[in-house]
Amino acid sequence: MASIFTKSTVPLIIMVLFVFYKSNCVFAESIKHKYVIIRNDVGGGVNLTLHCKSKDDDLGVQNISPGGEWGFHFKTSAWGTTLFFCSVEWPGTSHYFDAFVQSRDMDVCDTCVWSIKPDQPCIVFSNRSVCHPWNK
Ligand SMILES: *[C@@H]1O[C@H](CO)[C@@H](O)[C@H](O)[C@H]1NC(C)=O
Ligand SMILES: *[C@@H]1O[C@H](CO)[C@@H](O)[C@H](O)[C@H]1NC(C)=O
Repeated sequence: MASIFTKSTVPLIIMVLFVFYKSNCVFAESIKHKYVIIRNDVGGGVNLTLHCKSKDDDLGVQNISPGGEWGFHFKTSAWGTTLFFCSVEWPGTSHYFDAFVQSRDMDVCDTCVWSIKPDQPCIVFSNRSVCHPWNK
């Protein structure tokens, strides 16, 4: 019976191991600790009812007072697929937005501070903000 370790399979095995090793490095780079903070900037003295989830986690219903904030942290996925979405509600209004989309936000922020305004949610930085429309 022939051994599988013939002259032609050894380079192949080395190549497969190398590709596996390289891809693990790429995976490791995509695993980062992230922190998301969500601030109630709706105004008018209203409380914000916030409910954030991912495919695997339900972060529960939060009541955020005017100007108050709440946050959560997590590690991004090796597969680049981390997604947290949230519902925001205040009297007469209900919206959804994506609080963290790995493919969109990975390089945007490590601490992602969302300002929830009546018309749109924005990630705010000291000198600028990045706004996104509500989810349909
Ligand atoms: C906002 O939430 C706080 C804490 O639960 C509550 O005491 C307060 O009455 C709420 N305010 C309004 C306007 O609903
Ligand atoms: C905001 O500040 C960062 C870091 O200080 C800087 O790199 C960036 O160019 C600034 N952006 C604007 C729009 O001024």
